[in-house]
Amino acid sequence: MTKKIAVLPGDGIGSEIIEQAVRVLRTVAPSLEINEAPVGGTAYDLHGHPLPPSTLKLAQESNAILFGAVGDWKYDKLPREHRPEQAILGLRKALGLFANLRPAVLYPELANASSLKPEIVSGLDILILRELTGDIYFGTPRGIRTASDGPYAGSKEGFDTMRYAEPEIRRIAHIGFQSAQKRQGKLCSVDKANVLETSQLWRDIVIDVSKEYPDVALSHMYVDNAAMQLVRAPREFDVIVTGNLFGDILSDEAAMLTGSIGMLPSASLNASGQGLYEPSHGSAPDIAGKGIANPLATILSAAMMLRYSLDSASLADKIEQAVQKVLQQGYRTADIYEPGTTKVGTAAMGDAVLKAL
Ligand code: NAI
Ligand code: MG
Repeated sequence: MTKKIAVLPGDGIGSEIIEQAVRVLRTVAPSLEINEAPVGGTAYDLHGHPLPPSTLKLAQESNAILFGAVGDWKYDKLPREHRPEQAILGLRKALGLFANLRPAVLYPELANASSLKPEIVSGLDILILRELTGDIYFGTPRGIRTASDGPYAGSKEGFDTMRYAEPEIRRIAHIGFQSAQKRQGKLCSVDKANVLETSQLWRDIVIDVSKEYPDVALSHMYVDNAAMQLVRAPREFDVIVTGNLFGDILSDEAAMLTGSIGMLPSASLNASGQGLYEPSHGSAPDIAGKGIANPLATILSAAMMLRYSLDSASLADKIEQAVQKVLQQGYRTADIYEPGTTKVGTAAMGDAVLKAL
């Protein structure tokens, strides 16, 4: 059966980087059906809405979505419901995307881009798996009220509710173990079980799920310690699975270990393996239209799409190896340039990847 993907370029640098990823996909997977639709600012210009029904329908009918970026400055004054960022929130919600995969890979050629010393971080290859739909960001009740008792009675207080249901923990734990099986077979579950009830339940359920994956080595770590270990000895991790709040923070910390936002792909998956794949960066309005954006994060997102939603791990390997090769050959976009390497623009980087393929 022909697999179908939806390509949603978005605005800002979105169309520039997506174009290169589509060229790569057409080369390695010529039988893939590729349909394009507007999203974000581009869709607002055409249809008056950042996620028009036709775009949502195409996304829902596809095996996977390749998303560029949204959020150009020219849409900053729009009311919140029409802002480009609503498109990504709308897609997450409509498709039930609950598992956010953020690999942090430091290619040896870019070791100087990291804020850590090369001997600590060179060769880093970890995966942060963040639960995306639960936790303190969505728990109720929440609000700001006047405290009725305690030492601060009569003062204003703000409150949120950290909440996780067993099925939510169970499904993300399964993705964690399955991701570890595809990698080095190590899963570290990060929580705060010494203090939080939510975390105690999280830990109990992760241990229960682990019985189905005897080939994966499971460990547990408190989040404060995990934040330290990520900068002390990051290569000791393989896959980290954690909740929405802790994952938000740890995934940004891990991203910076690699030093270059233009290199980092991401995936958001739902229960049926359908996924949305996008670079971790935004629409970079400061460089949009200049032809200098780094397309590698998007090309690597396309590789993740082949691996996780299209059952084509060997094609994903091919793309990842081609990216590694162009770095070895010395090609660099401006964001990762250092003296002695060859500076190229967006399209020339795409050319180099195609040639390496
Ligand atoms: P950003 O990631 O767009 O840019 C941060 C810095 O990194 C800028 O200096 C930019 O030029 C640079 N950069 C980003 N991607 C690059 C690439 N591929 N090659 C070379 N340099 C690159 O983050 P910022 O500036 O905070 O946000 C800009 C807009 O993007 C905002 O409207 C924001 O809401 C939106 N955004 C959208 C996301 C999405 O589409 N999923 C995610 C994050 C932000
Ligand atoms: Mg964040």
